[in-house]
Amino acid sequence: MNAFRTLLHPSRVVTVPLRNAYRWFDERTGITQLVHKGLYEAVPHSGGWAYTLGSATLVLILLQLFSGIFLLLDYVPSVEEAWQSLHFLQAQDAFGNWVRGLHLWGAYTLILVIGLHALRTFLSASYKRPRELNWMSGALLFFLVLGLAITGAMLPWDNAAYWTATVVTNILHYFPLIGDGLRQLWRGGTFVGPITLTRTFALHVWVLPFVLFAFIGAHLYLLRRHGEFGAWVNYNTETDDPDKEIGERIRNAEPPYPTKRIERRYAAPKRTVDFFPDQLFKDTAVSVGLVAIIFIAGLIFGATLDEPADSATLTYVPTPEWFYLPLDQFLVLTPHDPLIAVGIFVIVLAGAAAFFLLPFLDRSRERRPTRRPEVLVPALFMIFAVIFLAVLGVNRLYNL
Ligand code: HEM
Repeated sequence: MNAFRTLLHPSRVVTVPLRNAYRWFDERTGITQLVHKGLYEAVPHSGGWAYTLGSATLVLILLQLFSGIFLLLDYVPSVEEAWQSLHFLQAQDAFGNWVRGLHLWGAYTLILVIGLHALRTFLSASYKRPRELNWMSGALLFFLVLGLAITGAMLPWDNAAYWTATVVTNILHYFPLIGDGLRQLWRGGTFVGPITLTRTFALHVWVLPFVLFAFIGAHLYLLRRHGEFGAWVNYNTETDDPDKEIGERIRNAEPPYPTKRIERRYAAPKRTVDFFPDQLFKDTAVSVGLVAIIFIAGLIFGATLDEPADSATLTYVPTPEWFYLPLDQFLVLTPHDPLIAVGIFVIVLAGAAAFFLLPFLDRSRERRPTRRPEVLVPALFMIFAVIFLAVLGVNRLYNL
């Protein structure tokens, strides 16, 4: 009788089937092993807060996906209805303005955070062997995020969107030989119109996210393959006999270390810790903090919707999104000459190519920032120039 009672005890009635269901699921998926692998992944002992930016970038991209899906429930990608549908969303839907705000402020924060993540991996020289492809896949992700931001800005089909579409599609014209063809292809004709919006929508919602998630997969795969140990701090020696210390590290290293054909010093990191609990806690704290700020900013500021697009307007003064302001200000400051415009286009392309190819431009073995003035000084100059141009043009900002 007692055994019967124990068997039918409420806690057993619930837990036994649950446990069996979990076992069934685990046998088929290997979920326990997967979670275990993720939690006990070796990460740098000296990592810390600067290493939270990569996972924060991932979380912010997922937030964009989430808020974007909600926007798609109402948004209609046609020149007659795009503006109307967003106006309806803002005016009639209880949370409409908040969701638009989430998507907008999420995008702004994402651009800042991905930029900081790139800056941290640049300063720590994490792009050096064997992480060249980590950097290059990351650089492509950065371009894709900028592409998503600018195509998104064209979708509301208000005046700001219309003029953004006009100016951005026109940039293609400066590509030698194929430029005009590309502009025609994107616009769906000579001028910006209904087909431009349909194609921009397809880029923003299908093409760019598809490529983005493919490259995120590649970036994370490479991260797991080489570990998060790009920074020089992982290879500092602590004893009086550095050679012996490095030798011991190499002897005790577990795969994928020691890294092949690399200076001995950088072959195996000095000290690793498990991802759980310290780093996971820091990653979660930063991501939750950022998401909370975005929710609050979205609620308070929402997102602006200008007058419906009017190509005949004579009074509207187009201004760029803040993240393109430095480039726009550069154009404003230079004389209006087609040849100069081509020159600026070439400079920007060369800058983007240098950013992408950095691991092959900086071939020195040195990783400490202060001993890499040949890359640090030009990079600081670039950052200073971008901030300076942004400050000069700040009074023309539209969207802030
Ligand atoms: C969608 C965008 C991105 C995601 C989701 C992402 C994610 C991550 C994560 C989770 C890490 C490990 C933690 C950390 O170091 O912060 C990492 C490392 C790394 N990322 Fe990214 N990242 C992105 C964009 C970029 C960009 C724009 C660059 C540079 C141009 C970059 C270059 C690197 C490098 C070189 C590492 C290795 C760091 C090391 O070993 O020290 N990533 N990324």
